[in-house]
Amino acid sequence: MNFHSQSDFIFAANWKMYKTPDEAEQFFNAFFEEYKPGAEHLIFLPPATDLYVCQKKILHQKNIFFGGQNSYFEVKGAFTGEISPLFLKQMGAKYGLVGHSERRQIFGEKNELLAKKVKALQDNGLIPIFCIGETIEERKSNKTNEVLTEQIQKGLALLNPKLDLIVAYEPVWAIGTGLTANLEQVSEAHLTIRGLLDKMGTSAPILYGGSVKPDNSGDLKKVKNVNGFLIGGASLEVDSFISIIKS
Ligand code: PGA
Repeated sequence: MNFHSQSDFIFAANWKMYKTPDEAEQFFNAFFEEYKPGAEHLIFLPPATDLYVCQKKILHQKNIFFGGQNSYFEVKGAFTGEISPLFLKQMGAKYGLVGHSERRQIFGEKNELLAKKVKALQDNGLIPIFCIGETIEERKSNKTNEVLTEQIQKGLALLNPKLDLIVAYEPVWAIGTGLTANLEQVSEAHLTIRGLLDKMGTSAPILYGGSVKPDNSGDLKKVKNVNGFLIGGASLEVDSFISIIKS
């Protein structure tokens, strides 16, 4: 599958540090009872300890994939606590999240490190889902475009544009807060990002993330250059995740 030639809407579920393996299994049992597959492309990003549950439950499903929330830029070595992209690949993962604002802000990950992580994922046959977004202070001081440009130029400095990539625009102030960027803000940011990606020679899909819920997903979906969603809180419950998919 190559994103350069496909246009299915993408729904990526970022479970963050929620769901024990038992809870993940229960989720998938309930999910597959309710979910009627359509043309969409689903990606589950569970905690690493749930990846084997994904392997068991969704590895052979059509249009449903999974990935890691974090991985290191080396494939093996004395890096206690880290996860190798090669190990993710062997588990059957297809994607790897990089640069989520929680990784940037809580764990201090910088663009230079993220660039190496993106490269390592691509080198190991995984598709990076590269997250960017401005803080509320940056937006208020009209620095949104500047921040997005820097995050893309530095974080994707080692990108192979011929290989697949997904970019997720997530304004930091909209993540987990119940505040969503308005449609105009989303449209403007996605247009800026599309322009930057064009210059790099990639037509990567651009996801919107930040408090996507069943009651706003229908409108957000119609915004130009929004090719999918990265969903946190609302992806944890089968009903709300399916409502978003159907919206
Ligand atoms: P949220 O999280 O949907 O709970 O705002 C989105 C994300 O962090 O990817």
